[in-house]
Amino acid sequence: MDSILVTGNGPLNGQIPIAGAKNACLTLMPATLLSEEPLTLTNAPRLSDIKTMTALLQSLGAEVSSLQDGQVIAMSSHSLTSQTADYDIVRKMRASNLVLGPLLARFGQAVVSLPGGCAIGARPMDLHVEGLEALGAEVELKDGYLHAKAPGGLKGAVHQMRFASVGATENIVMAATLAKGTTVLKNAAREPEIVDLVECLRKMGAQISGEGTPTIEIQGVDRLHGATHQVVTDRIELGTYMLAPAICGGEVELLGGRMSLVESFAAKLDAAGVSVSETEGGLKVARKNGRVRAVDVVTEPFPGFPTDLQAQMMALMCTAEGTSVLEERIFENRFMHAPELVRMGAQIEVHGGTATVTGVERLKGAPVMATDLRASVSLILAGLAAEGETTVSRVYHLDRGYEHVVRKLEGVGAKIERIKGQ
Ligand code: UD1
Repeated sequence: MDSILVTGNGPLNGQIPIAGAKNACLTLMPATLLSEEPLTLTNAPRLSDIKTMTALLQSLGAEVSSLQDGQVIAMSSHSLTSQTADYDIVRKMRASNLVLGPLLARFGQAVVSLPGGCAIGARPMDLHVEGLEALGAEVELKDGYLHAKAPGGLKGAVHQMRFASVGATENIVMAATLAKGTTVLKNAAREPEIVDLVECLRKMGAQISGEGTPTIEIQGVDRLHGATHQVVTDRIELGTYMLAPAICGGEVELLGGRMSLVESFAAKLDAAGVSVSETEGGLKVARKNGRVRAVDVVTEPFPGFPTDLQAQMMALMCTAEGTSVLEERIFENRFMHAPELVRMGAQIEVHGGTATVTGVERLKGAPVMATDLRASVSLILAGLAAEGETTVSRVYHLDRGYEHVVRKLEGVGAKIERIKGQ
């Protein structure tokens, strides 16, 4: 298994290009199942999660080609052969559940294994199921699989979600595009990836309004057609690399970044004493003198502070002046990076969903282990700011969500290399 060796070596300066969003791409790809005409995505990120989704779509009989070094994904679902998403693929990645809504809408049936994914909590699918049932589906759990049917087709309905789940919103919106009549989805999630999905569905002929607000209205249509769509910038990759100069000092421009994607996160950086400004090409982040100040963070659905940046923010707080409290409200088990950061000299106490971090002047390099996707990159950030060498093992987690990490960080002056495993 590969590992990553990081040697802390001072301020970072230069530019980092930000890729298309993993989480947007993972919901845009299943949208191909809604139409028999081709769907092409540009600005796709090169990640193992995208390969997993490719394999899943191919297992359903879709044609999926990766072009231009993986940045373009050309898909066609004109002759699908299966409506079953197998456990073997779904267990690798929770986002596999996003084929449920589209398959059900187009074929009136779908069988989808309950997902696996990051070990950061229970992550059930009840909210997906409730929404699809509101549209007239019958859903049954048998042998670890959800069996969904809508023999007479789905029918539009008014549905209020109990919690603004990102994946459930995506599944319900995709399903409703081909339902008969109007669906009004209340307490919908507002993440930029959902806005991106709706923009793509609209290009495919769907009639949708209200995306980016808590109420999304979908007028069902008989069929959707082909489209080409550019994947939105990855706000989590953006936020992660914004933290690199914040934790090491220096000045880095994040190419393709936009403030509207990371407003609440940028506000926390500002409060910590890190400057964030818009440039023609993206966002510029600078920390010139002294340590950052401790700030408190509560994770919330968009537009609140993203749970997917909590681990990385904790790495920054480990070297801040003062004590910060990080409260995780989205996932119940998302502090697995804390004991690893403690191995590097961090002072962290975790009680339930709250971590209290007292900053130290300097972290110390150590061998640490990545436990999930965002935890893995938080350890790399900590390593960049630590004295000496840090080896992060189990980097396959990292490959799920960050393309060319070594190249991107080397480009701004970091000492980082990938060590090939036996
Ligand atoms: C998506 C993102 C993930 C991010 C998360 C929250 C993708 C591929 N993944 O995941 O990176 O961390 O949003 O921003 O886009 N829940 C239920 N029942 C359900 C569905 C969810 O209880 O049916 C709970 C989950 O256990 C979790 C919370 O709701 O505690 C948020 O989950 P959700 O918004 O659905 O996240 P995902 O779509 O899985």
